[in-house]
Amino acid sequence: MVCLGNICRSPLAEGIMKHKLQQAGIDAHVDSAGLLNYHTGSMPDKRSVNTAGKHGIDITYQRARCITKSDIHKFDYILAMDKSNFENLLEYADKGEESRISLILDFAGLGKKEVPDPYYGNTGDFENVYYLLDDACQRIVDKLKISSSLNLV
Ligand code: 4NP
Repeated sequence: MVCLGNICRSPLAEGIMKHKLQQAGIDAHVDSAGLLNYHTGSMPDKRSVNTAGKHGIDITYQRARCITKSDIHKFDYILAMDKSNFENLLEYADKGEESRISLILDFAGLGKKEVPDPYYGNTGDFENVYYLLDDACQRIVDKLKISSSLNLV
């Protein structure tokens, strides 16, 4: 899960996805990272922590870090929150790896839409991000369930 700062959207995405995978009994490794190094080592933004907490998800253990080229080698799916994140992530991909990188809402089948940056927004903007990510992660988990039952992953 990748956003700009790794303090607002991608920590929420990581928390929601881990929660849903656990509920579905799917064993998968999920992590998040950012494209800026400005917040490296920081906890998620308080507004993301509170929004996740309201929905029973703890993300306080997370610490911001920057995406690396080895993440692109290591992870099967690299999911960007917005188009700018997506474009920037392509710079980290070696030849042939570009197809691992998607916009999260597009990957979930919701169209080429973005998860808007809530950093300069209010609680409602964080709640909106939560619902977008909750819907997207549910759709992705459902997709993984079908693939794993067909032995495709
Ligand atoms: P995020 O939000 O990419 O969802 O973590 C942001 C966090 C920090 C900044 C921008 C967006 N910033 O400019 O510091």
